[in-house]
Amino acid sequence: MKGYPNGFLTALLGALSLMLVTGLLLAPTTLAMRADIALAWRLPGSGRVLTAALHAAGGFLLLLMVGALWSVHMRSGWRRHRQRASGLLLGSVLLALAVSAVAVYYVGDEALGAATAIVHLGLGLLLAGLFGWHWLHGHRARRRGHAHGRAHAPHLPHRHVPRPRPVHVDPSPAKEQA
Ligand code: HEM
Ligand code: HEM
Repeated sequence: MKGYPNGFLTALLGALSLMLVTGLLLAPTTLAMRADIALAWRLPGSGRVLTAALHAAGGFLLLLMVGALWSVHMRSGWRRHRQRASGLLLGSVLLALAVSAVAVYYVGDEALGAATAIVHLGLGLLLAGLFGWHWLHGHRARRRGHAHGRAHAPHLPHRHVPRPRPVHVDPSPAKEQA
């Protein structure tokens, strides 16, 4: 990833995978407790606490990385008019996940608490799809070369690149001598 230390992309993928895996492990309990939907399996009590702790800690880590992405990656992509739609959606879903996570913790009302937990779970699933879209799109655009980026920004001024001057080569130097 341009502008980031080696290993940043691996760490980002690790944090996202941790969130997805722990979130999916928590999901059967959420569905049972918040929506009365009983699946065949769910985490036992002690396992749930550990998984929820890992999930919350992973959330802090992921948001730290999103902060780092904001300072270079998002702003440089935005300025170059590249992957704005998928990037903006991805950033917005991450923000909504963070807000709904606070609501999962602190909303007292039972019905509202259940609704925010389900919304949080739905946003988590959406995040996986959006991230895949954004990443694939980035890879394809890079393979096609940056010429593709220009097609999305026709209003930007073209850089003037001076043409090389033609070199005149006399086809018959022998004639000149004569
Ligand atoms: C406004 C927001 C964003 C914009 C404009 C944006 C723009 C871009 C662009 C232009 C690329 C193509 C490769 C490059 O030039 O680096 C890209 C790739 C990528 N973006 Fe974003 N992005 C945004 C938000 C995000 C967010 C929030 C994440 C992570 C949670 C993210 C993760 C990635 C990853 C993992 C790649 C692939 C990098 C690689 O293959 O090296 N982006 N993005
Ligand atoms: C930025 C990303 C995310 C943040 C900051 C975040 C944060 C949190 C926090 C703090 C909790 C409360 C933990 C507890 O119960 O003690 C939580 C719960 C939960 N999260 Fe996330 N999460 C994120 C992404 C995800 C994803 C990707 C998924 C699913 C695929 C997910 C699914 C869940 C579920 C099912 C719960 C349990 C809700 C309940 O209490 O019933 N989260 N999340």
